[in-house]
Amino acid sequence: METMSVENLSRDLHSILNSYLDLIGCDGGSIYTLEKNESGEKVLVFKAMITRSLGIRAVPDELKSAVFTLDEESLVGKTGFHQKTFKENRLVEEEYKMEVVPKFQTHNVLSAPLLTPRGDLVGVVQLVNKIPAEGETQADFDLKDERLCGIVSSQAALAIENSTLLVEQEKILDGFVNACVTAIEARDPVTAGHSQRVCDLAVNLAGVVNQTPIGPLAFINFNHVQMRELRYAAMLHDIGKISVRENVLQKEKKLYPWELEQIEMRFKLMRMALKQELTGDQNKLELVRKTKELDQALMLIRAANEPTFLPTEVSQTILELTKLKVVIDSDKQEWCCALHKEESERLRIPRGSLSTEERTEIEKHVSFTYEILKMVPWGRGLENVPVIAHRHHEKLDGTGYPQHVKAEEIPIQSRMLTICDIYDALTAKDRPYKAAIPVDKALSILEDEVKQGKLDAILFKLFLDSKAYQLPAAAKDKKVA
Ligand SMILES: [Fe+2]
Ligand SMILES: [Fe+2]
Repeated sequence: METMSVENLSRDLHSILNSYLDLIGCDGGSIYTLEKNESGEKVLVFKAMITRSLGIRAVPDELKSAVFTLDEESLVGKTGFHQKTFKENRLVEEEYKMEVVPKFQTHNVLSAPLLTPRGDLVGVVQLVNKIPAEGETQADFDLKDERLCGIVSSQAALAIENSTLLVEQEKILDGFVNACVTAIEARDPVTAGHSQRVCDLAVNLAGVVNQTPIGPLAFINFNHVQMRELRYAAMLHDIGKISVRENVLQKEKKLYPWELEQIEMRFKLMRMALKQELTGDQNKLELVRKTKELDQALMLIRAANEPTFLPTEVSQTILELTKLKVVIDSDKQEWCCALHKEESERLRIPRGSLSTEERTEIEKHVSFTYEILKMVPWGRGLENVPVIAHRHHEKLDGTGYPQHVKAEEIPIQSRMLTICDIYDALTAKDRPYKAAIPVDKALSILEDEVKQGKLDAILFKLFLDSKAYQLPAAAKDKKVA
């Protein structure tokens, strides 16, 4: 898809070309801009074409892909190569092959370079078929035409340069956004691809909103710049995760791996201590009983460590394990305790792997996203990127975070992000500790949230009915490089 600046350039160049034709008095003309082809070679590309006698007001499709190298092969290329103006009066069609419309009789042509005030070549203009004055049958391009052409050419060169700068600016911003996403996802490789998928889903949904002819969203039509704004907000909605500790970000179970290792070591020590203490036949049964008790306790700890729902009775038993102790050294009165208070607290998290403090730390990513995005001078039309991203965890009934704002303060773009974000988090296949939820189930979870008044019902219906949640396979598995 062509960018807005490219579309604007084409419109501007056609209006400039009309000025050339009016000022110099000729029937047609073309403007070519200097670009780089795939191998990095500079070439001239058709950007505007008018032939008044044939009613041509745009570059015909068959000429759009035509390119001219900077050499003597064509008049366009020659003009660009030498950066000087050529006047060819008395031309016949065969001598002027590629550069004209087929079946169009070219009598004469004025070909001039488009140079910026710094002297950089940015394109070439060609004017053809000077219109003879009344009573005359023929007219040639002369020195006066050359001078007039030079006046308009500086305007054309500036328009091309401005457009090039805008395209470059867009590319720089795109590159910056992609670099940031790479940085976010490098810290949390298991969720790699999430930002890009949320972006693709949001763009899909915005496209559907644009095509909705009836209902409350009928008047909403995201233009090119608003689509870019949405894309950037979606790509960067989780950038604040760089403020969250990696351990917390990637936490799979209730205990950190080293915490479970410490507990297992303690159990080993306790078993050894029991063996040393309970020797002889008279203690055999007691040793078996106590060892079994330890084994069962460790099994329970391992089970409770999983991030699934924890029944109340198991939670109570885990609490009691803080009292399970074994004497390590009776002389020194040293005891080893099966479970410390903090470990038991972690294991008793009722659902998921995160403690309240860890959950708060993760939730802070949204505020940090806002702080980071606010520092970027987004430029015209993109000012709302920080706010859109800031609200991606808010719910319409005020139960979201971080600001607990309600529907009226949540922009439609954020509401779209919320739906896409939850959908991707549920269906993502790239988290080793969490099975991907099937699409149907994920959609019904979203539907429940809609029924509870948390998510936008109209947007969700569009998401569902239009199947905006379906991404092409390549996009689905795409990891942000
Ligand atoms: Fe988030
Ligand atoms: Fe997210």
